[in-house]
Amino acid sequence: MLIVENKAINPLISPKPSEAKPDTELESLRIWGKHPLSGHVHISGAKNSVLAIMAGALLCPQHCRLRNVPSLADIAKMRQVLEALGVKIERHNDTLELDTSHLSTSKAPYDLVSQLRASFFVTGPLLTRLGTARVPLPGGCAIGARPVDLHVRGLQAMGAEVHIEHGIVHADIRGSGGRLKGAKIYLDYPSVGATETLLMAATLADGETIIENAAQEPEVEDLANFCRAMGAKIRGAGTNTITIVGVPNLHSVDYGIIPDRIEAGTFLVAGAITHSEISISPVIPEHLTPVIAKLKDIGSEIVLDGPNRLRIIPGELRATDIETLPYPGFPTDMQAQLMALLTLAEGNSVVTETVFENRMRHVAELVRMGADIRIKGQNAIIRGVSHLSGAPVLATDLRASAALVLAGLAAEGETLVQGLHHLDRGYDDLETKLKGLGAKVQRVSP
Ligand code: UD1
Repeated sequence: MLIVENKAINPLISPKPSEAKPDTELESLRIWGKHPLSGHVHISGAKNSVLAIMAGALLCPQHCRLRNVPSLADIAKMRQVLEALGVKIERHNDTLELDTSHLSTSKAPYDLVSQLRASFFVTGPLLTRLGTARVPLPGGCAIGARPVDLHVRGLQAMGAEVHIEHGIVHADIRGSGGRLKGAKIYLDYPSVGATETLLMAATLADGETIIENAAQEPEVEDLANFCRAMGAKIRGAGTNTITIVGVPNLHSVDYGIIPDRIEAGTFLVAGAITHSEISISPVIPEHLTPVIAKLKDIGSEIVLDGPNRLRIIPGELRATDIETLPYPGFPTDMQAQLMALLTLAEGNSVVTETVFENRMRHVAELVRMGADIRIKGQNAIIRGVSHLSGAPVLATDLRASAALVLAGLAAEGETLVQGLHHLDRGYDDLETKLKGLGAKVQRVSP
């Protein structure tokens, strides 16, 4: 078994995550605001890497070990999807052991896929392993329609017969010798998901695949590194042109996931919004470049306290403009959190969301807390206010819920963030980590 050490991660300092909690739809987080924070936070592994890499494990008919896996509801759902396909999975603390030798079906279950968009990632690996895949369309979600046309067109370019019937994507390569064919694919948009689907599919294809206008997100590179550690031949991941030369098979691997740049960014905002000096690790600072640049514009200093550790030294909050873009642009997954911060910044800011069409649902809830925000199309115009006041608010999606928690930490009085199941999708034990910094927060069940 090949061991791939990720230098940014020290498994010895990882806390033992608890198992993902049961459905937390009805739970709320009570936050008593205006308590200064201090200390250090451990950053968990990257959710979006793990989701793609768990699907990528299907490419190899052997055993895979993934380390630095956070305890999240989305990962528990992905585990269910893989188990429904016949994969045996065990979890020991932050390590997942996957035995994919007995893939028993090419049909992913609708009820699970409809709950987790990332489960569509199994399509490419199922196709290469079994010659056929039957995966329900993941459908829309709270932040936008999120089609999969780019995934489908790419697979078709590689020789798969793909049609959609009764809401299910049927993909087949059994008529063409059971192997995808390398192709040159230009993506109309650098979609993270489409790049990952095609990258995985190409690892076992016949010949060379070139993905142009590929997504450059660190999680795409992490997936590529995972595949390379299994023996795949991939060049250029992390740039906009990825070249994959198909190999006949892949082998077993032990792989450490990169730290979650979105969780890291969220904690940096927690420092800025509460005027608190805190440090975070492990992180890969380059992955946070656009977030750090904006936090500096807004008045904070971010210092490197070691190769994988950052400290935020907060300053007076100043307005700035932000536009979300594919990486290395400013991440849409940090838009809501930065907007919460800008509500308290001196002056007028404009936040423009270009990646998803419906990702401003936190605005109404921030306004409920006293923020002054108007929406015009894809822009939010924010006039900084002197203070926010605690209120009951409703989380509408994952990052919106993080924004409301951040606003609650800075608000006067008590905030009740409802709909915690969104938060639990992507933050590993957020309330314990916040408590560790001195925040007054409490999870409440109805
Ligand atoms: C991934 C991340 C998500 C992040 C997003 C953008 C995971 C599990 N999720 O989502 O957290 O917010 O990247 O950084 O990694 N699109 C199409 N057709 C397609 C595919 C995408 O039109 O076939 C559009 C989408 O509707 C969206 C845009 O492209 O407007 C970006 O989507 P994409 O990059 O694919 O995001 P996801 O992979 O879904």
